[in-house]
Amino acid sequence: MRTTHDHGGDVRLTRISKTYGGFTAVHPLDLTVPQGTFFALLGASGCGKTTTLRMIAGLEEPTQGTVHLGDQDVTHLPPYKRPVNTVFQSYALFPHLDIFENVAFGLRRRGIKNVRKQVEEMLDLVQLGEHARKKPHQLSGGQQQRVAVARALINHPKVLLLDEPLGALDLKLRRQMQLELKRIQTEVGITFIHVTHDQEEAMTMADTVAVMNAGRVEQLGSPTDLYENPKSTFVANFLGTSNLIEAEVDTRSGDEIVLKAGGCKLSLPRARCSAPVTAGGKVLAGIRPEKISLTHADDAGRVPEGRNRLTGTITASSFIGVSTQYMIDSPACPGLEVYVQNLDRDARLVPGAEVVLHWDPAHTFGLDAAQDIDAGVEGVEPDEGVAA
Ligand SMILES: Nc1ncnc2c1ncn2[C@@H]1O[C@H](COP(=O)(O)OP(=O)(O)OP(=O)(O)O)[C@@H](O)[C@H]1O
Ligand SMILES: [Mg+2]
Repeated sequence: MRTTHDHGGDVRLTRISKTYGGFTAVHPLDLTVPQGTFFALLGASGCGKTTTLRMIAGLEEPTQGTVHLGDQDVTHLPPYKRPVNTVFQSYALFPHLDIFENVAFGLRRRGIKNVRKQVEEMLDLVQLGEHARKKPHQLSGGQQQRVAVARALINHPKVLLLDEPLGALDLKLRRQMQLELKRIQTEVGITFIHVTHDQEEAMTMADTVAVMNAGRVEQLGSPTDLYENPKSTFVANFLGTSNLIEAEVDTRSGDEIVLKAGGCKLSLPRARCSAPVTAGGKVLAGIRPEKISLTHADDAGRVPEGRNRLTGTITASSFIGVSTQYMIDSPACPGLEVYVQNLDRDARLVPGAEVVLHWDPAHTFGLDAAQDIDAGVEGVEPDEGVAA
């Protein structure tokens, strides 16, 4: 069933934009989604994800720009003439038809008589073979969502668009369906473009994630690349948690930039700095909470040479089983977060304790200090305050 991997099925958006009156929902956007990949559009509510998806589907006319599917310009084709199907959050199955007939619908509408083999294949793919004769209301939310996926895939689209398809499911089922959708995509080899505001969901499923913010793509890359090498404060804060330390450029030599922060010196690999670097200029030094080790101040002499190090005082700690999460105030930066895996717990690491924070300089990343240091912070809790 796997389609061949030529580039004839790439989705290409060229300078595509959407304006409603005076409001720009999507700024001119260039984006290529390679055929056969699982692609996620990730961003907070209102950033333009659905609008972008609807322009690919043909449900929304772009204000400017073009949509190509392989070599074909589909910008002015109506939705039903595009080799594209969409699965929405409200999967809207036909309540009076059983599961088999729901899935068969697209084939019957095209006048295909002998549908049994294809429908059974599809039901097997989504692992609902034994439910074929049930009605939608007799299935769980996750099962109904799988019917919706089967109903779309049976039309053999080149591209499947999914707009928050798991939004209505509870957390546990959502996790299960994420793996399930990923398996289905791998099996059929069709391009999936998945819209979500849940960063974990995007990272779990997608080969490539485009992080959107206010109608623009901030950064595009594999989940690991985005997490390890964020290029903006928005991406650093929206995907997981980042400590961003306001620092000043001290010296530059070869591959190394030395920064000063609160009387301490930090080493930053030049290749990991996306900010302009001028002597005395400002840079945000980023470090992820799990990359930092903690040593009690009494043992400061045991911290190996060559590590970036800051001093600080623990202000809060919470034990969450696999790790302990510390909040630490440092002269270099207030409110640093450190996650320590629970291997050998040091009982002295409690609020009030003086500590040394240290890490491998290679894990430091540098960001342009002209940006809002808190951009994307609210994205850490994407379910909070998000309007429906
Ligand atoms: N038909 C419309 N008329 C006017 N404004 C619109 C219209 N559709 C969308 N918008 C605006 O465009 C922006 C982007 O909307 P869009 O639906 O693409 O967001 P989204 O990223 O999908 O958000 P969510 O996660 O909440 O679904 C929003 O500010 C929205 O209010
Ligand atoms: Mg939306």
